Amino acid sequence: MQLIYFSPTHTTQKVVEAIARGINDGKANHHHVVHRNLTLTSHECEVPTDEITLFGVPVYGGRVPAEATRRLKQIKGNQTPAVVVVVYGNRAYEDALLELRDIVTEQGFVPIAAAAFIGEHSYTTSDYPIAPGRPDTEDLQKAAAFGARINELLQEAKMLSPVAVPGNFPYKPLGQKPSIAPITVADKCDQCGICVSVCPTGAITLNDLPETDASACILCCACIKECPTDARVNDSGFIKEKSQWLVDNYSERKEPEIFVE
Ligand SMILES: Cc1cc2nc3c(=O)[nH]c(=O)nc-3n(C[C@H](O)[C@H](O)[C@H](O)COP(=O)(O)O)c2cc1C
Repeated sequence: MQLIYFSPTHTTQKVVEAIARGINDGKANHHHVVHRNLTLTSHECEVPTDEITLFGVPVYGGRVPAEATRRLKQIKGNQTPAVVVVVYGNRAYEDALLELRDIVTEQGFVPIAAAAFIGEHSYTTSDYPIAPGRPDTEDLQKAAAFGARINELLQEAKMLSPVAVPGNFPYKPLGQKPSIAPITVADKCDQCGICVSVCPTGAITLNDLPETDASACILCCACIKECPTDARVNDSGFIKEKSQWLVDNYSERKEPEIFVE
């Protein structure tokens, strides 16, 4: 079993791993698990027909993050059964699940099941909590139950057919990212370089203090969430306004959705 994911703040990774545990749970035909974490690097590879593959990406602006798409295009299947999963910050996933399904189909996989889960919004802070702590225990139990269902599907010796998922084509246009990036609070930073090492696009350079190339930053917030001294912050009005809007309009708990033929 291959686990292929792009997950700057690890919520997508947690969901995909819980689904994999559900697939393997208590089963005699235990699948060996190979992780292909695409967050920091591309993996060029071909997955054989008999190896169930789980794909997971976060939702950015109702779409698959462009950086993730580029990396997914390095992976090839050979009529390989796949499960596609998007994780979103309690607002909406719009066309992302359809887009992920279409990408993996194009790459040679057969998407037999799909799901949309909820993860703590990347912009969450103590001032702006948006789905804080998700996926929680209940979400992870649902993910494991979904895995058990996938296992049953794989046992049913019938032709694998592609699953239908919500979404529109043409997809929602990709959002224009404003030229902003998190900043470093000088007196909190001890120059450990963790922010540099967790940035998916290599946008941060350590020159005395970390400096961020705003044109390369995708606003994933990995540097903020991983900074051990809380020295990385989003101080832009754009993010604060957006976060307040999310808190005001999208605080009602959404639940995971599962799609199986
Ligand atoms: C640039 C950006 C755009 C986002 N767009 C959406 C969105 O359209 N809808 C939504 O519900 N959440 C959105 N989110 C929140 C993420 O989908 C959510 O926090 C997800 O759990 C992050 O996954 P990760 O932990 O694997 O990085 C966005 C986050 C970022 C950074």
